[in-house]
Amino acid sequence: MISLEGHDILSAKQFTREDLEYLLDWSIKIEQDKKKFSECMKGKIMGTLFYEPSTRTRLSFESAMLRLGGSVTGFSSATVSSVKKGETLADTIRTVANYTDLIVLRHNNDGAAKHAATFSDVPVINAGSGSGEHPTQSLLDLLTIRQECGKVDGLNIGLIGDLKFGRTVHSLTYLLANYDVNLFLISPHSLKMQNRVMDYVQGMGNVKITETTEFLKTLPNLDVIYMTRIQKERFPDPEEYESVKDVFKFEKKHLSSLKSNAKIMHPLPRVNEISPEIDDSSHAIYFKQTYYGLMMRKAIIGLIMGVIK
Ligand code: NCD
Repeated sequence: MISLEGHDILSAKQFTREDLEYLLDWSIKIEQDKKKFSECMKGKIMGTLFYEPSTRTRLSFESAMLRLGGSVTGFSSATVSSVKKGETLADTIRTVANYTDLIVLRHNNDGAAKHAATFSDVPVINAGSGSGEHPTQSLLDLLTIRQECGKVDGLNIGLIGDLKFGRTVHSLTYLLANYDVNLFLISPHSLKMQNRVMDYVQGMGNVKITETTEFLKTLPNLDVIYMTRIQKERFPDPEEYESVKDVFKFEKKHLSSLKSNAKIMHPLPRVNEISPEIDDSSHAIYFKQTYYGLMMRKAIIGLIMGVIK
């Protein structure tokens, strides 16, 4: 692919390793020369259509667009749009495509972004689709890993928590499938990584995978500890959620078992899975990760709109 101009971003599977390096490098170049890019989106409008709650994804996309000199419109809850009156996603997309140059969509259905793209005359970015994927989160996660660990190949990376419903870990696993990493998938048995994701990674043949329920025993091996929230809103049965909600908690006492350079990441929001006592530790990089989100989303917007090449 390499040139993203005019493309949708629907799945992390769409990127080759070369594409990923290109996107990561552009995120850094824009950051190093902020002023040069501060007007490059002038006259362009981005629509953010968020049918599900969001803080970081929506605001970092909007901030990225504004910092590139563009404008933003949209809604942050389906309840304030005509969705409330029963409008279909297809009709909303057909309409908003007339008003904007780029659409960023978050939706509760797994296939929503793909569906939306078929009705849109402008590029669509999947900003989280149900328990399916969240490709731009995984791009910023990859950027964070590369910048903070100095490399991706050779790392021991642990994805921890809700690997069944968590869309960020699905997309991150698809991206990591391009690298020679050791991936530790740590979850309760009932929340293990979905087969379709496992099949894809195994098919790519680069990653060594270990599936385990042992959080504390695995911690000392890890270079990256990627914690996730148990996705309460996706559980059909509230009792089932109650039984796993606090299954893995990273507490202060666990810091001593980490490798000296280990990094703790989290897509956020966190609930109980990381104690706030950890926040000041040099291992904790989850707030820094949110800044990498702004950097990555500037690159994504600029490349899709063809103003950066
Ligand atoms: C995640 C999401 O919405 O999937 N958050 C995010 O985009 N940073 C993770 C979550 O909600 O647990």
